Amino acid sequence: MKKPKVFVARILPEEGLNRVFEVCDAEVWQEDAPPPRDVLLEKVRGVDGLLSLLTDRIDGELLDAAGPNLKIVSNFAVGYDNIDVPAATERGVLVGNTPGVLTETTADLAFALLMAAARRLPEGMDFVRAGRWKTFQPTLLLGRDVYGASLGIVGMGQIGRALAKRAAGFDMKILYYDPFAPADSSLPAGAIRCATLDELLRRSDFVSLHVTLGPETRHLIDARALESMKPTAILINASRGPVVDPDALYEALQKGGIAGAALDVTEPEPLPAGHRLLTLRNCLVVPHIGSATYATRTRMAVMAAENLLAGVTGRVPPHPVNPEVLPRRR
Ligand code: GLV
Repeated sequence: MKKPKVFVARILPEEGLNRVFEVCDAEVWQEDAPPPRDVLLEKVRGVDGLLSLLTDRIDGELLDAAGPNLKIVSNFAVGYDNIDVPAATERGVLVGNTPGVLTETTADLAFALLMAAARRLPEGMDFVRAGRWKTFQPTLLLGRDVYGASLGIVGMGQIGRALAKRAAGFDMKILYYDPFAPADSSLPAGAIRCATLDELLRRSDFVSLHVTLGPETRHLIDARALESMKPTAILINASRGPVVDPDALYEALQKGGIAGAALDVTEPEPLPAGHRLLTLRNCLVVPHIGSATYATRTRMAVMAAENLLAGVTGRVPPHPVNPEVLPRRR
C-alpha cells in the first residue's frame, strides 16, 4: 500500500521523527531557519499531512496549496496562533497540538525568569565576565525579594496554575486575572481572583503572562497597563511576544515605570541583536526556550507525530484542536 506523504517543517527529536518514518513517506526540512513561504507552499503540494512549527504560518492560501489530500496539520507546540483554525475546519483539515506535556517545563522557565530578573543574575554574570568583581560590596547589584512577594498571574490555565504551585513554595501571595478560569481545587489555597487586569497590575510585585494570543490579548500589556504597575515590579512573559507592546515596554523600562522585564517571547521574534530592548540592563531576554528540555521536547515530538499519524491514517488524533472536523472525515 502506498505510504501517506507528509512534510515535516523542521528536524525534531528522533523519537518523534522515527515514528513518522515508520509509517510515512516523509520529507523533513533540514535547515535551522523555517522554510521560506514560497518553499513551504511548494513543499506541501499534494501532502496528506503537515507537521508544522509555531514559526510556520498556516492559512487558507497554504491549505489550498496543499490541496484536497491534506488531512491534518500537526503543530509542534501547545499554542496554535500560527494556524488559521477556522480555515482548516472549513476545508475539513484537522489541527493537532501538544498540550499538557510542556506545562511543568514552561512553568519552570517562567519561575527561572522571575528569579533571574529579581536577583539580576545576567547582570551579575556580565559583571564577573568583565573583570569588575574586585571585592564584596554592600550595595552591589541589589535586587528584589521573591520570598513573600506578590505574584500576579494573567491567564490561569495549566501553565499559570503550575507557576502558582511553585510560587506557593516561596510563600508568595498569589493574585490572578482570568475571566474564564473555573475556581477549582487546582488553584493554590488563598489565591486571590482579581476582578480586573488593572487591579492585578496595581497589586503585584511580579506579573507573569500566561494567556493565549488572539485579538483580545494582542498588546494586552500596553502603555496604560504598564503605568498601572508598581515602579518596583517585574514583568515576565513566557506566553507569546505580541501580548506585550514592545515600544511601551521599552519606554516603561527606560523611564523607571517598572523595575524590570524577563522575556522568553518577543515581538518581533526573533528579536534582532540590535533591538533597543537589548540595550537595557533591566531587560532579560531568552530565545523562546520555555519548553526546551530534552525530555519535554521529546514528548512534544512524539505527541506531534502521533497526531500526524492518526490524521493521515484515518484515526482520531490524541489531541485535536478542531474535533468538529472528525465526523466529516469518516
Ligand atoms: C511554545 O511556545 C508552545 O506553544 O508550545
